[in-house]
Amino acid sequence: MNSKARAVPNTQESASSSKPSKKPRRQQHSQLSLDYRPHPGQQLFHDRPERFRIIAAGARFGKDTACLMELLRLVTTAAAEPDRPATIIPRVHAWIVGPTYPLLSEPWRVLKRTIPPSLIVATNETKMSIELVGDILIECRSAEHPETLVGSGLDVLCLLEFALIPEQAWTTSLRPRLASYGRWGLLIASGTPKGRNWAHRLYLAGQNPDQPDYWSMQAATWDNPLIDPAEIESMRDTMTSRAFAQEVAGEFVTDDGAVFRGVRGCIVPPREPRGSVTVGVDWGTRRDRTALCALDENGHLFAFESFRRIPWSQILDRVVSFIEATRAELVVPEINSIGDPVTQDLESRLAGRAIRIEPFLTTATTKRQAIDRLALAIEQRRVSYPDIPQLVNELEIYEYSQSPAGNVRFSAPSGQHDDAVMSFAFALHGSVLHARDASGPSGGYVDAVGYGDDGGRSYENLGNFWVERSSY
Ligand SMILES: Nc1ncnc2c1ncn2[C@@H]1O[C@H](COP(=O)(O)OP(=O)(O)OP(=O)(O)O)[C@@H](O)[C@H]1O
Ligand SMILES: [Mg+2]
Repeated sequence: MNSKARAVPNTQESASSSKPSKKPRRQQHSQLSLDYRPHPGQQLFHDRPERFRIIAAGARFGKDTACLMELLRLVTTAAAEPDRPATIIPRVHAWIVGPTYPLLSEPWRVLKRTIPPSLIVATNETKMSIELVGDILIECRSAEHPETLVGSGLDVLCLLEFALIPEQAWTTSLRPRLASYGRWGLLIASGTPKGRNWAHRLYLAGQNPDQPDYWSMQAATWDNPLIDPAEIESMRDTMTSRAFAQEVAGEFVTDDGAVFRGVRGCIVPPREPRGSVTVGVDWGTRRDRTALCALDENGHLFAFESFRRIPWSQILDRVVSFIEATRAELVVPEINSIGDPVTQDLESRLAGRAIRIEPFLTTATTKRQAIDRLALAIEQRRVSYPDIPQLVNELEIYEYSQSPAGNVRFSAPSGQHDDAVMSFAFALHGSVLHARDASGPSGGYVDAVGYGDDGGRSYENLGNFWVERSSY
């Protein structure tokens, strides 16, 4: 766990210099009694007096719980403040803001469940707002439409999963809510980091001794003593090291960098395939290559071909030859605007054979899933491939980048290609589908006709496929 270690500033001087009604909160006591025992990491946060407090932590740390409990403590303390101006209505006002409404539904349930019924005056389910005795109003708001986040001055703003909230919502809509005369204007924000976006800068302000109004802490899932260490190890096994660093260790991982780690560790001498074969197809355009990868049941990429600048009909011929030569049972061609008609052509060419075609529809989400799966498989050496220069090079240079809006993108560096990477990712996606189907209740393949006698497979000609065949 990491938090800014420095002298606790005098809240009256630093945090509330523009807020005459503010008192050092540590000396104030709420009348609220809750059945909540913070763990040591949460306690660190509750004890701090700064105006802006930020928790960046891994999943299940107890971020939401700590923020909601702190919010309740703060609003009830504020309501008990004797010198609060009578003109401000409601007397105490707080918002809980999340990136979307669905992400607010759990905190909203927790809030209603936690507040003693004797304190509740009214609850509005549609507006997700709750009124407490002492003229306290707590409202849940989504940051999806920042233009609606107006009209109120706040005593407490609680941001949940703050790293997923757009920066613009914070700077133009939310931050100004904290500058209202007579109100405390406090921020409590928590979330799991998402790269190095504005949330990282807010976190850094909390680490900067020159910004005494800000305090931040960074913690991991394992800093929550209630989490079973075996769960952490199980997550480590199923996540890439980058995803683990971010989602579990709660670190602000760098925006740009290599996606695939341990690429050379998966290089093995060429060997014959074992078990069923899946082929991934990344269709080329005028500029890009068409790339084909054949993967066996053990995750060994035993055949690879790539070519460009040939007419579509010839591309199709070569794809069909590759599928035949590798004896693929499953083919995963990409479909998008270009891939769709050509995939239909491929389907007609393969009609009547025991070859299943499972198109891969590329969207930002499916692409990310396929790339993540490949990254994890490479990191854990669950795939292997011969030293194919184009493939190894593409894997090594493939990178993450982050858009100004905070979205992570995967791509080859500008001017470079990613066809081999994509066809590999499609093939791996297909072989996972295949394995699932084979072990699922329906199992196996349909249309097992016309495939010929598969008794003794021969792969003697496959050696040719190691070599990249480019047609320029
Ligand atoms: N101090 C505590 N004592 C007991 N249970 C707790 C405590 N803090 C959190 N919990 C429980 O642990 C679970 C996770 O807490 P919470 O939702 O606050 O974590 P989170 O960090 O927001 O998790 P996520 O990453 O899933 O959003 C919840 O069921 C919550 O009730
Ligand atoms: Mg949460």
